[in-house]
Amino acid sequence: MEKLRVELGERSYDILIGEGLLGQAGQLMSNLAIRGRVAVLTDENVATLHLETLRHGLSAAGIEMVSLALPAGEATKSWPHFSRAVDWLLEQRVERGDVVVALGGGVIGDLAGFAAAVLRRGVRYVQIPTSLLAQVDSSVGGKTAINSAHGKNLIGAFHQPALVLADVTALGTLSDRDFLAGYGEVMKYGLLGDASFFDWLESNAPDMAAGDVAKCIYAVKRSCEMKAAIVARDETEQGERALLNLGHTFCHALENATGYSDRLLHGEGVAVGCALAFEVSARMGLCSQEDPSRVRAHLAQMGLKRDLRDIAGDLPGPDKLVELMGQDKKVVAGTLNFIMARGIGEAFVTSDVDLQVVRDVLADSA
Ligand code: GLY
Repeated sequence: MEKLRVELGERSYDILIGEGLLGQAGQLMSNLAIRGRVAVLTDENVATLHLETLRHGLSAAGIEMVSLALPAGEATKSWPHFSRAVDWLLEQRVERGDVVVALGGGVIGDLAGFAAAVLRRGVRYVQIPTSLLAQVDSSVGGKTAINSAHGKNLIGAFHQPALVLADVTALGTLSDRDFLAGYGEVMKYGLLGDASFFDWLESNAPDMAAGDVAKCIYAVKRSCEMKAAIVARDETEQGERALLNLGHTFCHALENATGYSDRLLHGEGVAVGCALAFEVSARMGLCSQEDPSRVRAHLAQMGLKRDLRDIAGDLPGPDKLVELMGQDKKVVAGTLNFIMARGIGEAFVTSDVDLQVVRDVLADSA
């Protein structure tokens, strides 16, 4: 088992990465002083696959669990499901000293984390991410949220978990599409800050997708290590943390344009967004044209979407997509910030982006 620490003073916590962690969950949570019972929020698909394993893992350490399974899918990150979850936690008499467990992918992690943030003004929670996307990104760093009709993740709070248990065994139950969508976020780490990790992924990611557990553990660990270091330096995204949003300004506009539906999964949008961000960077003379070509070649090698034309159905034109980007949380005082790159592993934040180049790149990608 690999162990990392997110260093945030009295809110520091461990990330444990390995095989079979669900079955040892009670023992791994032993330092949380759990008072006999935890409340688990999950989704209906994950409940079928993993809830009994978790129940056994907790009961082996004398911890009982109660659980609520919400519908699977992005539509669950909404006020109605959030209010149902919070009311259920209150019905279960979850108190300030208790622990909520988020068992699932990014939707459940974000919703359960936000519920824990506001329940009785804040209770502890443990993230048990079961998707690759959640293991490498959303379960770490304390961003919690639900969506609004105005955009994604616009209602939320920073609330750090007390522990993250990333059981890579769960990755074996993902569909190829979900695994690859999560891989979009793994690749993002190489692109934003570690060229040698991107080199490693070019050689080893096909083995990860084919089920090589040791390589999955390494990639999850390296991704979490990078995220933990950035979050420790910039917890509330005053600066450097925005690098983690490489590809996301494009992605959020595309997710909005596709109605947060399965036409485009979040990680697929990140993959397309990274390709577009590198293309804009190259056309603005910030990096060489070889860099976007290399990004696109790797996405093709992995069978991931790279262009707007890879997304099924009609999309709005470049003007409308740029307008949708204006709803992004990275808008500061009306100025849209982008994550651009000087090369692979060298991302930076800037508002100095020519929107006509962005429109041209979007048009060429459609
Ligand atoms: N997913 C980006 C962040 O956690 O900051």
